[in-house]
Formats: sequence, structure tokens, C-alpha cells
Amino acid sequence: MHDVLTHDDSMRDRLMVALDVPNADAALAMRDEIGAEAGWLKVGLRLFVAEGPALIRDLAGRHKIFLDLKFHDIPNTVAQAVESAGGLGVQMLNVHAGGGPEMLKAASRAADSFPDMKLIAVTVLTSDSLPAVEAHKLALERARMTQDAGLDGVVCSVHESSAIKDICGPGFITVTPGIRWGDQDVQDQKRIADPAMAVKSGSDYLVVGRPILMADQPGIAAREAVKMMASTLL
Ligand code: C5P
Repeated sequence: MHDVLTHDDSMRDRLMVALDVPNADAALAMRDEIGAEAGWLKVGLRLFVAEGPALIRDLAGRHKIFLDLKFHDIPNTVAQAVESAGGLGVQMLNVHAGGGPEMLKAASRAADSFPDMKLIAVTVLTSDSLPAVEAHKLALERARMTQDAGLDGVVCSVHESSAIKDICGPGFITVTPGIRWGDQDVQDQKRIADPAMAVKSGSDYLVVGRPILMADQPGIAAREAVKMMASTLL
């Protein structure tokens, strides 16, 4: 009998749940709630600073891990940090494109030793107080710079994803937060999109935090997101 990869399966592998929780107990409980409904877990600064590499090892296995630490320092220091992160066996890691081309190149060279790990760069933070037009222009410039430095992709808003694909090509990965659907609270996200819009605009991976973390049943909320993503393929 053949395994048939359904639309839902392929979309589960593009859903990243942001584990924005305070400690390992909460992270492991959320991991269990989500189960097979999402392919990825994103571990950010709060959780990593609290729990460190041991948690990454505990989370790995059923899910792929995106280590979201946004490295931004001198090139040598960032390269060494990329090497340490690569040693943890994570499947995705990021740095901040604001570190400039030399830092990005050093990070990219360090990541070459870890072919199974995608290295991406944050373009512009939502909290950067730039006018929208300038933020958009800067995001595109930084995406090009990130690609020239040899990285695999960027974190960007859904609203920049298709322009970045136009400039950098379809193989350049875009990872997009700011996802909301139904009557969910927008919270501090400025420019939101629902899961179907995100997929249609070319986002490869959708990062979803509070809409799943704060749902009564996080696994069901993740399934809902996957269904909306898959609806674009019908
Ligand atoms: O809870 P919510 O779905 O808004 O979470 C989004 C996640 O994406 C958070 O972990 C946040 O740190 C991250 N993120 C973001 N905006 C950026 C970069 C990262 O919301 N520009």
C-alpha cells in the first residue's frame, strides 16, 4: 500500500507554532497538545534563555525546530553562535539582516557545515517604527542582501512575501508571522493575514503563536489553520 500525501499533510509541514511560553513544562505540554497537527515548533529567546539546549533535545523528534534567536553581533561572534546552534540539530535558525552583509556572509559560511539546517534572516521587525513604505523598501533590500550573502530565506510580513519571491526567486524561503483568522484578537500584530492569504501570497512557512497557544484546544486551532492553508490547493 502506498502512503498518500494529502494537501493537509503538505500544509502541516508549513505550519510553525511559536512556543512563546515561559518554561519547559509549558513547552512540552503544548507540544503534546499540538501533536501531529503542525510540523514545526518555534523556540524563541524567552524559552531558550530559560531552558537552553536541553529543551531543544527534548522537543526534537516528532517536530522540526526553528530556533528564533535573531543573532545580531560582529561577524565572528555570530558565526560562532551559528556553529553552536547548528550543533543542536535544529532545522531552521535565524539572524538579523540588520547586522549587514559581512555578518550575513560569516553566518552563511558557518551554516555550510549543517546542510540540514536552513539559515534565514529577519528583515524588519514589526516594532521598528518606520513608515510603511520605507519598511517595505528596507525589507526588499535586506532580502536581496540576505540572498547575496548565501542564506536560504527571510522572515517577513505576508504583505512582502510575493514581492520578495519576485526579486529573489521562488526557491528563496519566506517565513511569515502576523497570522490571524475568524474573529481573533489582532493583539500587537500590525499587518495581519489569514492562513489562506498567507499561502496565496507565497509564504512558505506560517508562524502562529497566540491564536493556537490561547485556544481552548490548541490542536484543533492548528488543524483549522492547516485546513485554511490547504483550501488554497482545491
Ligand atoms: O502570537 P503571534 O501569532 O502574534 O506570534 C508571532 C510570533 O512571531 C512571535 O513568536 C513573534 O516573536 C514572532 N515575530 C513576529 N513579528 C516579527 C518577527 C517575529 O510576530 N516581525
